[in-house]
Amino acid sequence: MSVMRTKSIEQSIREGDDPEYQLKKRLTALDLTVFGVGVVIGAGIFTVAGRAANQLAGPSVIISFIIAALVCGLAALCYAEFASTVPVSGSAYTFSYTSLGELVAWIIGWDLLLELLLGASVVAQGWSAYFEIFMGNIGFDIPDAVAPGSGFDLAALVLVLILTALVSIGIKESMRVNLVLVAIKVFIVLFVIFAGLAYIKSANYSPFIPAAGPPREVSAAETPLLQTLFGLEQTTFGVMGIFAAASLVFFAYIGFDVVATTAEEAKNPQRDLPIGIIATLVICTILYCVTALVLTGMVPYDQIESSGALAAAFESVGKTGYATLISAGAVAGLTTVVMTLMIGASRVIFAMSRDWLLPRQLAKVNPKTGTPLRITIIIGVAVAITAAFTPVGKLEYMVNIGTLAAFTLVSIAVPVLRRKRPDIHRPFKVPFSPVLPILAALASFYLMLTLPTETWIRFIVWMALGFVIYFIYGYKRSRLAGSSREEDVPSMTST
Ligand code: ALA
Repeated sequence: MSVMRTKSIEQSIREGDDPEYQLKKRLTALDLTVFGVGVVIGAGIFTVAGRAANQLAGPSVIISFIIAALVCGLAALCYAEFASTVPVSGSAYTFSYTSLGELVAWIIGWDLLLELLLGASVVAQGWSAYFEIFMGNIGFDIPDAVAPGSGFDLAALVLVLILTALVSIGIKESMRVNLVLVAIKVFIVLFVIFAGLAYIKSANYSPFIPAAGPPREVSAAETPLLQTLFGLEQTTFGVMGIFAAASLVFFAYIGFDVVATTAEEAKNPQRDLPIGIIATLVICTILYCVTALVLTGMVPYDQIESSGALAAAFESVGKTGYATLISAGAVAGLTTVVMTLMIGASRVIFAMSRDWLLPRQLAKVNPKTGTPLRITIIIGVAVAITAAFTPVGKLEYMVNIGTLAAFTLVSIAVPVLRRKRPDIHRPFKVPFSPVLPILAALASFYLMLTLPTETWIRFIVWMALGFVIYFIYGYKRSRLAGSSREEDVPSMTST
């Protein structure tokens, strides 16, 4: 028995049919798209876009958004093929279990947890910052001792606990709350676009690509790995600035892959998952590009605020009321991001414990709510503590690296599975395989190389921890490892 043992697709699907470990199938293509837009549009457009325009790309940040969208689009096609072929909870983790083997699956699952748990914590902190601004505007100041940045972020803690309770009640109910919040968020983004059009000055678009400046002054640990390894300097502005901004605004697209984690809860996963994933990406790309165009048209790029850029742009043209409305919308919008990331994390742990790589008692579904209650509570507590007590800072990059690592492996997995199992029905296929999947893997890996060296070090430590847990616990207890002893587990293919 080796760590390359793989699970057959039929086995993955059969295990999802075990009533004790079965999630309710209630979501439609529209639900999945709302879910996707709910998790994708967040801090990326509300804050990161402004920072990228101001510090790295100027008006050409729109090209950065297009580059990041292309990378995500390539990966999205791979996710869509897998999600339609292996419609089982757990997203990239499950896909790789059926193609690249248990160890790679574990690594991807572990990456996804990094993305989802830290992502939820980071966005909860961002939510708290907007909440503070909004409360201040309506005359209620949060006491310094429990304000964001104080070392104990009370609002972030309370938010996460309330969302945990909502998610525990059941996914359809939380989808309903999600629908309202997503509608508000999309309305606010459209409001920014249409209200902002009147304030665009064409002079702000020139120069469209500002002249290249010196690289940002950062410590050795913050230097991009590409520069540390190969001496390739990343300039601010200019063409290289556009690429540097692309790896920053990549954060804005994170989350479309989370749609795939709800595969088992979809009514018709083979049709609806590809629709949900691709529709989410298309909608967000259009909204992001137009918002970036409006923002850089309203404010000269060197005067764009690094945080709260959208609200600040309206303040700068004397529309303070609009700015307050936008802050309120950001509070609603970021709420859905935190909630959806937490649902995604619970589904990944669910899949891993159903495979006995983590304690299997965790995967029991509560008969009343139809949700994995224990996992939801554990995740809620972990995210609440991380959000409340970790300083606001570089966790964003950890989210990006975890996601990109998963993208790279999933993209490689598509041609591998096609070769291994040419026979299975694939309702959705990536065109031009293996060229497009290989391009997707290379593009994702390139963006990983542009991340800071310290992010790589933290990532390697996180992965090492994952290996230790796998070899001490999961390797021996894995359901596949025991399948020769367990009569109820059907055949598997070993490589
Ligand atoms: N894409 C998500 C955001 O922008 C993570 O907040």
